[in-house]
Amino acid sequence: MAEERALAMVTCTAPVNIAVIKYWGKRDNDLILPINSSLSVTLHQDQLKTTTTAAASRDFTEDRLWLNGEEVDVGHPRLQSCLREVRRLARKRRGGSAEDSAPLSLSYKIHVASENNFPTAAGLASSAAGYACLVSALARLYGVEGELSEAARRGSGSACRSMAGGFVRWQRGERPDGSDSLAQQVAPETHWPELRVLVLVVSGEKKQVSSTAGMQTSVATSPLLKHRAEVVVPERLERMTRSIRERDFEAFGQLTMQDSNQFHATCLDTFPPIFYLNDLSRRIIALAHRFNAHHACTKVAYTFDAGPNAVIFLLADTVAEFVEVVRRSFPPAANGDQFLRGLPVGSASLPQELLAAVVTESVPGAVQYILHTKPGPGPQLLDDPSQHLLGADGLPRCRA
Ligand code: DP6
Repeated sequence: MAEERALAMVTCTAPVNIAVIKYWGKRDNDLILPINSSLSVTLHQDQLKTTTTAAASRDFTEDRLWLNGEEVDVGHPRLQSCLREVRRLARKRRGGSAEDSAPLSLSYKIHVASENNFPTAAGLASSAAGYACLVSALARLYGVEGELSEAARRGSGSACRSMAGGFVRWQRGERPDGSDSLAQQVAPETHWPELRVLVLVVSGEKKQVSSTAGMQTSVATSPLLKHRAEVVVPERLERMTRSIRERDFEAFGQLTMQDSNQFHATCLDTFPPIFYLNDLSRRIIALAHRFNAHHACTKVAYTFDAGPNAVIFLLADTVAEFVEVVRRSFPPAANGDQFLRGLPVGSASLPQELLAAVVTESVPGAVQYILHTKPGPGPQLLDDPSQHLLGADGLPRCRA
């Protein structure tokens, strides 16, 4: 029998995703099974990613976890649920073949370190990237391949969509055990090369009501949510999938805005109501509609999750002009050089008619910064050992 390895270490990265047909509401809270299917765009990891190192060793005495350098409790039920799921898959795989030359013992304790290349407090979907990354790293560690979205779903529903790049559909599934509630790629990130994404960070505040708690109240009280899940989403998903396949920005943008608006309408229809949008979010919505009305077509599409930050979809040839419109409407308060982050943005001068019709107000300092990104690939394995977040002793490395 091959000797078991003493220490094994793997590092992966995983992306953030933003839904254009929203997931809101569970039919099973423990298994994290949604009441409706959803569809998202995976964002590029050059701008937004989680990096996770997972290590297992016979010398570790307990499971330990570090998030952004701080040690946190490993007992979190969803974390345990992901871990259980990946180990179950590993056991299943090993049962199927005796070929493993150096199996890593599933009974070894593990150390996990995870960090984001963006501020967690910015309200960007960090749990989706976090759980997708955890599952990717653990799966590699245990030599598990194939379908992993089911394991990521156990951490956070939206995390299953971060297990693939490009355009991803999470099928609600029918089975009570959730085995058919999986995420699948609709089209790869290369499919729509002109598509761009702007994240308008308006607030670093932590959200008032977590998605998990919010959707539970919505399921219990909102008749609109029931109608949405049964009638509206199934039809929209088909149209959304088609608009992506055909790279039809007009249809894609309209559906994206309508679905974001309906999600926030179900929040208002929840009792007591939940408010994720703030006054600034509403100003951005109005600005996008003025911009589109001026151009007499859908040039930009907004979407908002469980917080006030706006995510804007647009095509590359609109970026410079729209960024200038945002800069004029919400002039940076201080350090204006940090206002634009991510992919480079060209300069644009705004025609007088556009200024008069679209830039109708100026609220200095309201938008903290704009992050320019695009669709990107799914989780990646980092081969370079110097990128591990844990040292050879299994403890977080001191980072310069
Ligand atoms: C508004 O995936 O964070 O972002 O499954 O309870 O962890 P849990 O919820 P989560 O909800 C995301 C909600 C959303 C819409 C979406 O991403 O589809």
